[in-house]
Amino acid sequence: MNEQPHDVVLVVDLGAQYAQLIARRVREAHVYSEIVPRSMPVAEMLERRPAAIILSGGPASVHVDGAPSIDASLYNAGVPVLGICYGAQLIARDLGGEVAKTGRGEYGRTTLSVLDHGALFTDLPDEQVVWMSHFDTITLAPAGFRVAASTPETPAAAFGAPDRRIYGVQFHPEVAHTERGQEVLKAFLYEVAGCRPTWTNVSIIDHAVEEIRAQVGSERVICGLSGGVDSAIAAALVHKAVGDQLTCVFVDTGMMRLGEADQVEETFLRQFHVDLVHVKAADRFLAALDDVIDPERKRKIIGELFIRVFEEAAREIPGSPRFLVQGTLYPDIVESGGGDNANIKSHHNVGGLPDDMDFELVEPLRHLFKDEVRAIGEELGLPEEIVWRQPFPGPGLAVRIVGTITPERIDILQRADHIVVEEIKRAGLYREIWQSFAVLPAVRTVGVMGDDRTYAYPIILRAVTSDDAMTADWARLPYDLLERIASRVINEVPGVNRVAYDITSKPPGTIEWE
Ligand code: XMP
Repeated sequence: MNEQPHDVVLVVDLGAQYAQLIARRVREAHVYSEIVPRSMPVAEMLERRPAAIILSGGPASVHVDGAPSIDASLYNAGVPVLGICYGAQLIARDLGGEVAKTGRGEYGRTTLSVLDHGALFTDLPDEQVVWMSHFDTITLAPAGFRVAASTPETPAAAFGAPDRRIYGVQFHPEVAHTERGQEVLKAFLYEVAGCRPTWTNVSIIDHAVEEIRAQVGSERVICGLSGGVDSAIAAALVHKAVGDQLTCVFVDTGMMRLGEADQVEETFLRQFHVDLVHVKAADRFLAALDDVIDPERKRKIIGELFIRVFEEAAREIPGSPRFLVQGTLYPDIVESGGGDNANIKSHHNVGGLPDDMDFELVEPLRHLFKDEVRAIGEELGLPEEIVWRQPFPGPGLAVRIVGTITPERIDILQRADHIVVEEIKRAGLYREIWQSFAVLPAVRTVGVMGDDRTYAYPIILRAVTSDDAMTADWARLPYDLLERIASRVINEVPGVNRVAYDITSKPPGTIEWE
């Protein structure tokens, strides 16, 4: 087999949030890309035999002391280079152009005038909208470079030396607001660097399957299914690779969403014929949580019991599995915009498994972004409900039931939550909302239904938009949707007589109530 089945483009992270987005856009052009820290020596980058190197944007000015830089040997390595924003300024400065502090930066929408269509703008119009975010300005391209485009404030907004295959663009081709940005990026990848667009869903799967087979050989593998997207798709990939060498363990904590355990069985056992151990441990979790109201204690109890139950199930599996599948994703491994060093972020997944378990890890998604993971999940034939599931906390409904957890209260919350999700889906909003769910507080309120006074629980509706769960805003749901959810929850869920909508952003609130 070809040692390097895909062209690899390295995106050098020069210190902002841009590198991940650039890497994703390159992959959307079906070319495999990886982010590398700027501290990586150029020789090491070249050892990867990259088809091209992209220098990302960054928040710094090339004029400040300690501003990120790149060893100039890169420019003589014969590898095509594209500098974006700060990356373009570095190229301009390093090769003898001019980056000036004009005092007139450009931010946001800007009109780019193409002067020389060259390789990057071949089929593009003479004028186009681009997105800018810079303070210093490239006033002069280096000798031997042609200016390809300018804006009112930036004389050399795009420049290149076709013979050296080095290009720079001051604007951000990776952001959606740059109308033709993806075409500029593709022109660089295909026309300048000669990359082949071979990174497709099918090839991602083939590549992962080969890697898994090479790692696992004929050994046995175990995978914990949580009901979530990542573990499900990791399991499906490993199953495709090594078939019945894989055993999946699904620990039903009793804190899952309505129908979730059935869905996991239906998909993995009946559709994919995976060897599935379904541990029905709800009673043990309920007993352990008896009378516990402190949220952190709930988390700790569930986390520890989960590990114990999982280990017990693992011990029963014949052939002593040597490998454990984990659904780690690429952004969990790469920390973008970061410090100089290692760029590794430790990712602790509550409800997950501890590092000291006696397994070697198989992480088939570790090179993939979430959107790629979902795309291959669809390609593998997993149902939409799993592939597009919103994030769900490891401790499950336990952190959405404020106060004591009883079978009755779990039942109320599951039914209410199911209605919320059903109505949000019906309104076509499920994918664009980060999380939407029901919360059961520990108070009861008075109501009147028919001729009777009621004294029952309210349900809190929580729906937020977010990119990464670090910050979030409450979703502006249409009034008629709110009304439908409220009336269905009150009519269909016994024990509920009121619905309130949580309009707290994060911060100051958190997404979950506990
Ligand atoms: P908060 O509530 O802190 O949640 O704004 C941020 C994101 O993390 C999820 N979450 C958890 N996930 N174990 C998990 O695996 C947990 O204990 C946990 N607590 C919160 C939450 O659903 C949201 O997506």
